[in-house]
Amino acid sequence: MNLNIKDKVAIVTGASRGIGKAIVYKLVSYGCKVVLISRNLDDLKKVEKDLNTEKVMCFQCDITNQQEFKVIVSKVVDLWGSLDILINNAGITKDKLLLRMNESDWVDVIDVNLKGCYNTIKVVSNQMIRKKQGKIVNITSVIGQIGNSGQANYAASKSGIEGLTRSLAVEFGSRNININCIAPGYIETDMTKNLDKKVIQDMKNNIPLNKFGLTSDISEVVCFLVSDLSSFITGQVINVDGGMTIK
Ligand code: NAI
Repeated sequence: MNLNIKDKVAIVTGASRGIGKAIVYKLVSYGCKVVLISRNLDDLKKVEKDLNTEKVMCFQCDITNQQEFKVIVSKVVDLWGSLDILINNAGITKDKLLLRMNESDWVDVIDVNLKGCYNTIKVVSNQMIRKKQGKIVNITSVIGQIGNSGQANYAASKSGIEGLTRSLAVEFGSRNININCIAPGYIETDMTKNLDKKVIQDMKNNIPLNKFGLTSDISEVVCFLVSDLSSFITGQVINVDGGMTIK
């Protein structure tokens, strides 16, 4: 299967670890040029060193700051001449029951997860509209669809991204820009590895495929969504959750 994404220029936010890092490795393996963004430059440098290829660049950037992101995009376009793909992966949680959730817990999560997507898309879509082509993938969460106790801020931010995606799919359709979401279920990360065995088993019992996903399960779908193979798919949310949300 040829994805035809060799030498396309992609930006991945939250690229220093976890799902974002896996997306970077997969895009590079298919020949993309990839710009890595995160708050922590040291961690990004480690990824860059490990990949050891001219095809990656990394920048420290807080995606809540649109101006900071805009400067990076200008540098990328100057150096690599194009910007074809945006993966909005950066995300945070500040879990608390609403009773104890203060305004900063709410604002911080909405700012990074939802406004962060607005900021990056606002900047990148200028380039894409000019070129009349582009692929945008936003990483949401099944929690945005089913909700979860203690995650009102996170769930609201992730459902918000779904609404943003559907609206922009309509706005961008005539510009040949596809925009979609991937909603991961439970994915094996450092966080889930440290959970109690009984808790893990209970969680798995609620998943029809009876297991957690791998970061590669997400990164493969990202590559499909940024390739020509998915050129008739836009405004959709693809759940990669082992069937968790059908129960
Ligand atoms: P993680 O916590 O391991 O990594 C998050 C990345 O985002 C880091 O690189 C961090 O530096 C970056 N980041 C955070 N705030 C930022 C900001 N203001 N500006 C720039 N970069 C920022 O996260 P993980 O687990 O890999 O998750 C990635 C995405 O997948 C998130 O959007 C998360 O909500 C979503 N997700 C994760 C699931 C899981 O099981 N791990 C399940 C469902 C969704």
